[in-house]
Amino acid sequence: MDFPKLKGKALLSPMAGVTDVAFRALAKRYGAALTYTEFVNSIAITRENEKTLEMLQTDPSERPVAVQLFGSSIKEVVEAAKMIEDRFDIIDVNCGCPAWKVIKTGAGSELLKKPEGIADFISKLSSAVNSPVTLKIRSGIDERSINAVEIAKKAEDAGAAAIAIHGRTQKQGYTGKSDWNIIKKVKESVNIPVIGNGDVFSPEDFKERLELSRVDYIMVARGAMGNPFIFQQIDDFLKKGEYEKRSGMDLFREYALLAEKYKISYSQLKNHAMNFTRGIKDAAKLRLKLSQCRTTEEIIKVMS
Ligand SMILES: Cc1cc2nc3c(=O)[nH]c(=O)nc-3n(C[C@H](O)[C@H](O)[C@H](O)COP(=O)(O)O)c2cc1C
Repeated sequence: MDFPKLKGKALLSPMAGVTDVAFRALAKRYGAALTYTEFVNSIAITRENEKTLEMLQTDPSERPVAVQLFGSSIKEVVEAAKMIEDRFDIIDVNCGCPAWKVIKTGAGSELLKKPEGIADFISKLSSAVNSPVTLKIRSGIDERSINAVEIAKKAEDAGAAAIAIHGRTQKQGYTGKSDWNIIKKVKESVNIPVIGNGDVFSPEDFKERLELSRVDYIMVARGAMGNPFIFQQIDDFLKKGEYEKRSGMDLFREYALLAEKYKISYSQLKNHAMNFTRGIKDAAKLRLKLSQCRTTEEIIKVMS
């Protein structure tokens, strides 16, 4: 199955604890061309874990929408994908998470150690479901084993509909810089759409990385935390060379309304409130006040 043609170039990258349904709906409102759920544990889906099923909620505005699955066993990921494929337009496999609790099970970026294994994963998954299957990788395990190009080619041959690449290694975690030259090489070596990722914090960064790498799309993660309006800023900057700014407080109130609709947890709301204070005058004072809040109402009051 082919990757859908998207209406814009900027996508919301999956983020655990951040890209809940309310946040994704807001990013969509401001022009994210594609939204992804945070990574979801395949085994927990097959066991119908209640908290995990909550992560699979989507907003009607989010079409197309991607679900990101992780797991080390192909059988479990296939089983999970089949259970939920009707609700999503794209099934994405996480091959990039560097967190110990994930890689110790052989999932996430640990899969990068075996390109043949990734190909097998993609091939079995894409023949089991009717949706396009994509993957999100890192550049390699460490600087001595950069294998993103090899993986991209093998994944394409195995039936991947698109590939997203974050230009850091597993070992780097979030240190150093995302290597956009590797991303460019991946783009030059496959015919499926390539989604570049890493260190895009502004519309200017976006345009520069797009021109350098010539990728089809770019995913934004941390740059959208606390500023889902970045998608509109990017669109405006690409079209008109300028863009407006919006206050994080206003954006947070929009988020809070959606969070109420989707019954987002209090702790998640509080984390988001912290993120939305970024760039605001007196942010440190606001954060201190937020840290003392005990209820949703108190958070909303501080952010008004
Ligand atoms: C809080 C947080 C949670 C993340 N969770 C996920 C995840 O669930 N799945 C995934 O593929 N990447 C995850 N990532 C990685 C991002 O999607 C992205 O690849 C990375 O942050 C680099 O992009 P950026 O420089 O735009 O932030 C996460 C990143 C952050 C900061």
